[in-house]
Amino acid sequence: MNVLLFGSSGMLGYDLNKSLSKAGVTVFSLTRQDCDVSNEEAVFFMLNSHKNIDYVINCTAYSKVDLAETEQELANLINAKAVLYLAKACKKYKIPFVHFSTDYVFDGSRTNYAYLEPDPCDPINAYGYSKWLGEQHCINTLSDYYLFRVQWLYGTNGPNFVKTMVSLMQTKQELTIVSDQWGTPTATASLAEYVTYVLLNKPDFGIYHCTDLGNASWYDFATTIASKINYTGTIHAVDSNHFIRPAKRPKNGILSCAKLDAKTTLKRYHWKDMLANYLNDNIQGEKQ
Ligand SMILES: NC(=O)c1ccc[n+]([C@@H]2O[C@H](COP(=O)([O-])OP(=O)(O)OC[C@H]3O[C@@H](n4cnc5c(N)ncnc54)[C@H](OP(=O)(O)O)[C@@H]3O)[C@@H](O)[C@H]2O)c1
Repeated sequence: MNVLLFGSSGMLGYDLNKSLSKAGVTVFSLTRQDCDVSNEEAVFFMLNSHKNIDYVINCTAYSKVDLAETEQELANLINAKAVLYLAKACKKYKIPFVHFSTDYVFDGSRTNYAYLEPDPCDPINAYGYSKWLGEQHCINTLSDYYLFRVQWLYGTNGPNFVKTMVSLMQTKQELTIVSDQWGTPTATASLAEYVTYVLLNKPDFGIYHCTDLGNASWYDFATTIASKINYTGTIHAVDSNHFIRPAKRPKNGILSCAKLDAKTTLKRYHWKDMLANYLNDNIQGEKQ
């Protein structure tokens, strides 16, 4: 199997490259220097110049959630316009398209409810809106696509909550963390395995929610990190209205992966197990 991977130097792109290669897939990996996805001609040129491609995978994104409020045009260019270019090129060259979106397409207002794929979208910030537009371009342009909605990612190759927490816990004796926003921390290492499994096993095309198992608040996430690295300071739980940030965040972003579980025999891992592996390999290992 051959894949063309855009955004291979990003957090997810890096692990997906590794996971696909390990599974024997030939990966043609592209960074921004190889192809700027906001350039329609460059995108079509890339697809035209690679033959026998089984999937085009888009791991590019504008992912600065707060900055997107003031850089809406740039966010829309990368998260929506570029997705249209990629989807149109995939349609022209008859190649299935693989794309990633987010729980931020939902408003997060539902209580005691994990969002299902067909639930109505209503993004509450500019980043979420740009990702929703990207989804629409994908869905309305072609039918052979896997669109994975993912959330709360952390991995080796990018800034993330785990790295931030570990660094704060090394310097501060008191931390204040939001306890009224919910989701599922998901390692890019396990997500890459899930995506590799789907591409090899080919369930029906469409939208799939795809996360590790279990769920947590940011406070739970932080206290679990703390216990795994033996942090001796204090972590205070606070409501999100204590932190005024440029972009609003959904309160409940929990994604139900029941569709993925029903359509595949994929074994997903619990977020706490993946976190332990990640800390062991990346953070605690660094100290030695
Ligand atoms: N991280 C999360 O918690 C999270 C949560 C929900 C959904 N997602 C989605 O999951 C996917 C992967 O996210 P991620 O965290 O791995 O993203 P990331 O680390 O920010 O990586 C994005 C990649 O896109 C590249 N890129 C940006 N603009 C480009 C352009 N014009 N042309 C070519 N490449 C460009 C970046 O290259 P440079 O390094 O050169 O800028 C980078 O390699 C995205 O669709 C994201 O929206 C992520």
